[in-house]
Amino acid sequence: MEEVRYEVMTLAEAAPTAKEVMHGVCKLLHERMLKYNWVGFYMLEPGTKPPVLVLESFVGAMTPHTRIPLNQGICGAAASSGKTIVVDDVSKDSRYLACSLETKSEIVVPIFVKNQVAGELDIDSHFSAAFGTDDQNLVQYCAEVVGKRLEKS
Ligand code: SME
Repeated sequence: MEEVRYEVMTLAEAAPTAKEVMHGVCKLLHERMLKYNWVGFYMLEPGTKPPVLVLESFVGAMTPHTRIPLNQGICGAAASSGKTIVVDDVSKDSRYLACSLETKSEIVVPIFVKNQVAGELDIDSHFSAAFGTDDQNLVQYCAEVVGKRLEKS
């Protein structure tokens, strides 16, 4: 996991734009973390009222949820609370919006730009309870890297 964190750091230094950092993070996490079966960024659409999360970069199967209002889904809950949400069994969470029938667990980590939620990093797994403390730290690190990069642009 340390190695993946290092690769994220290297990638963030080399990528010319925040969008490329996001795409690189999706590819890297999907390739290197075997239980991360869908990895994607949702970003708040500037100026839209009420606010809506829009799918940006992702790696994995196409999802029907390309636009998610803040009062829907685990994605909406993470963005509106500004807190990381880990769901060990998505079938037991009434907020869950299904993206693939194979998904068993999910983590959503908000991305902050200038102390405000700007979007989030969402990861689905085909395995139950795939996201432990180390995973949470890694995904939070990736979200921080992207937030800092967006702050600079
Ligand atoms: N499961 C998410 C929707 C996004 S898909 O997982 C890609 C949710 O409940 O908000």
